[in-house]
Amino acid sequence: MRIGKFKSLFCIEKLMILSIIATERKRGNSVLASKYIAKKLGEELEIINLAKKEIKPCKACYQCLYGKDCKIEDDVEKILQKIGVADRVIIVSPVYWLSAVGKLKAFLDRCFMAIRYYEMFKGKRCIVLTPHGFDDLVGWASATHLVLARILGLDVLANIELRSALPGEVFTDGETIKKLDMAVNILKKGERVVMDSQCPVCMSAIFRVRNGKLECPICGTLLTQNLEVIEKGERFSQKWVVEHFSVELIELKERYREIKEELKKAVDELGV
Ligand SMILES: Cc1cc2nc3c(=O)[nH]c(=O)nc-3n(C[C@H](O)[C@H](O)[C@H](O)COP(=O)(O)O)c2cc1C
Repeated sequence: MRIGKFKSLFCIEKLMILSIIATERKRGNSVLASKYIAKKLGEELEIINLAKKEIKPCKACYQCLYGKDCKIEDDVEKILQKIGVADRVIIVSPVYWLSAVGKLKAFLDRCFMAIRYYEMFKGKRCIVLTPHGFDDLVGWASATHLVLARILGLDVLANIELRSALPGEVFTDGETIKKLDMAVNILKKGERVVMDSQCPVCMSAIFRVRNGKLECPICGTLLTQNLEVIEKGERFSQKWVVEHFSVELIELKERYREIKEELKKAVDELGV
C-alpha cells in the first residue's frame, strides 16, 4: 500500500472554524484568541477580518426579503458564503467606546440579506468573545455581537468578555486565559454555559428597567433583580427571526406600498 493511500484512509478531516473579527491589529487579542482556540481544538481556522472588507451601508430597499439579489456590490455576500461552509463560528471583536466596532455594526446592518442563508447557518455552534481594555468600560458591545449571532441563526453557546487591553494581553492575564480554555471546552462539548449576571435565556449582559423589573433588551425576557425568569422572551430566537423576516418585515414593506402616497402627501403638506 502506498503511503499516500494509507494516510488518506486514516485521515480524519478537520472542522473549519470561522472567526469573524473586526480589528486593524494584526496580532491583536481577537486574532490571538481565535488562533489559541483553533489550536487547542486541533481544527482548521479561517479568519474573516471585517475591518479589511468592503461593507457598504444597507439601502433599506427590502428586496433581499423577497429573495432578490442585493444590488450593492461589496464583500458581504462572500462573507455570508464563508459562514455557510464553516463548521463552527467564533465572533470575536473588541469594545470600542463602549460599543461594537463600526465595521462589525456595518456588517450587522447588511444582515437583512442573511435570511437567505438562514437554513445553512441555523444551529452552527458559535461562541461570542469580546476583548476589552477596562472592566468598568465593557459597555454594550457584546450585546451587538450577540444580536449578530442570533440574526444569523447560530447556536450561541457562550458570551464571554475577555479583559485584554494591549495586543497580546489576552495571553498574559490569568483570568482571561481561563476564559479562553473555557471557550475551547464549550465549543468542543457543544454545551451552553451562561456566565454570572447574564440573561439565562440569551446571555445578554445588559438589561433595561421596566415597571420595576429587569427586561433583557435582546430576547425580551422579564427578570427579577436576581435574574430569575418571570416571563421568557422569544425575540431573536430562531422561530422569531424567521417570522420577523418572512412575515413582519414583508407586511411592513407591503404597508409602505399601500400608504406611500399618503405619507408623501403628509410630508409635502408640512413643507419640509
Ligand atoms: C478606538 C478604541 C476604543 C476603545 N474603547 C474601549 C472601551 O470603550 N472600553 C474598553 O474596555 N476598551 C476599549 N478599547 C480597548 C480595546 O477593546 C482592547 O484593546 C482590545 O483588546 C482590542 O482588541 P484587538 O487587540 O483585537 O484589536 C478601545 C480601543 C480602541 C483602539
